[in-house]
Amino acid sequence: MRESLTIEDLRRRAQRRVPRMFYDYVEAGSWSESTRDANIADLADIVFRQRVAVDISTRDLTANMLGQEFSLPIGLAPVGLTGMQYPDGEIHSAQAAKAAGIPYVLSSMSVCSIEDVASTVRSPFWFQLYVMRDRGFTEGLISRAEAAGCKVLVLTLDLPIMGQRHADIRNGLGSKGISVRNLLNVATKPQWLAGILRTKRRSLGNLVGHVDGVDDAASLREWVGKQFDPSLDWDDVAAFRARWPGKLVLKGILDEDDARQAADIGADAIIVSNHGGRQLDGAPSSISVLPSIVAAVGNRVEVYVDGGIRSGQDVLKALSLGARAVFVGRAYTYGLGAGGRAGVDRAIEILKNELDQSMALTGNLSARRIDSKTIFARGHRA
Ligand code: GLV
Repeated sequence: MRESLTIEDLRRRAQRRVPRMFYDYVEAGSWSESTRDANIADLADIVFRQRVAVDISTRDLTANMLGQEFSLPIGLAPVGLTGMQYPDGEIHSAQAAKAAGIPYVLSSMSVCSIEDVASTVRSPFWFQLYVMRDRGFTEGLISRAEAAGCKVLVLTLDLPIMGQRHADIRNGLGSKGISVRNLLNVATKPQWLAGILRTKRRSLGNLVGHVDGVDDAASLREWVGKQFDPSLDWDDVAAFRARWPGKLVLKGILDEDDARQAADIGADAIIVSNHGGRQLDGAPSSISVLPSIVAAVGNRVEVYVDGGIRSGQDVLKALSLGARAVFVGRAYTYGLGAGGRAGVDRAIEILKNELDQSMALTGNLSARRIDSKTIFARGHRA
């Protein structure tokens, strides 16, 4: 993986190795993909202040999230179907996060189950919850996460219905069966295929065996499609707050009023997010709304951000605008697709080195003390 110098290098490699339908699944935004692209473009527009003659010989990249110490202000975001990018993908990703000393968030829609990850990785991870219409199943997921030792629940709020992603529809991922064109494409990825045939984990691991009447890929897809609960409201969120004894993170907050609600119901943290531009197309980039959300609730909850982070420079920009930490989804998933565990290790290493060097050249010694003085207010172009 050494020859991959950037996250973009990893992305290109993943694109070659991963079957098109699963690569597209990660890459897609909803509808015109304008929000997905704005996440990246708005980060690119932020310009650093270069500072000189500061003693930067020792730098501290560590971070504290929810009372826990981590080696970087970066976490691995929940990504559905990670185990289709690379066999046992969730386990490899969780192991990479463990080795790097950063949080890993397991998606409800993972291929490796909560129990698989817990028993293989043997290190605490965070669990991302989708609230399903079947509230008994939802409660089961929470209890399983608790039993697996998860101390942090990340409740996703921005997917009460699925945003329409054209690539998934064209590829047949979701409703009807996989298209013939895509099956042929899988045949051109022999390494991926051999790996997937070797593992027993090839379905949505948290669901199979836990939902009545769901026993094959088609019935599973149908069940999931119908199950996201559109009735989820703040009273429900408050009930999950009361139910969950650990830390509660609300993910998918993009509006100051919602951020205040999150703080009011006692969330411990929020993730400012538009779901990687996969839900409401036309919504603002997450980085553009971050400062006003931090101003509104930053003294009441920890504020993290995701969306468009593809470099350590992007991490530093988000910290400059008030985020306590960032989460990366696509950035590490490219690494996974490119080379499994080694690729995720490499993605984290790339982000870490870029953050470290950018901190040094902006005269920052500690990732905990980055503020808006690191960037120009406006009017500069990189
Ligand atoms: C699910 O979280 C997705 O964005 O596909």
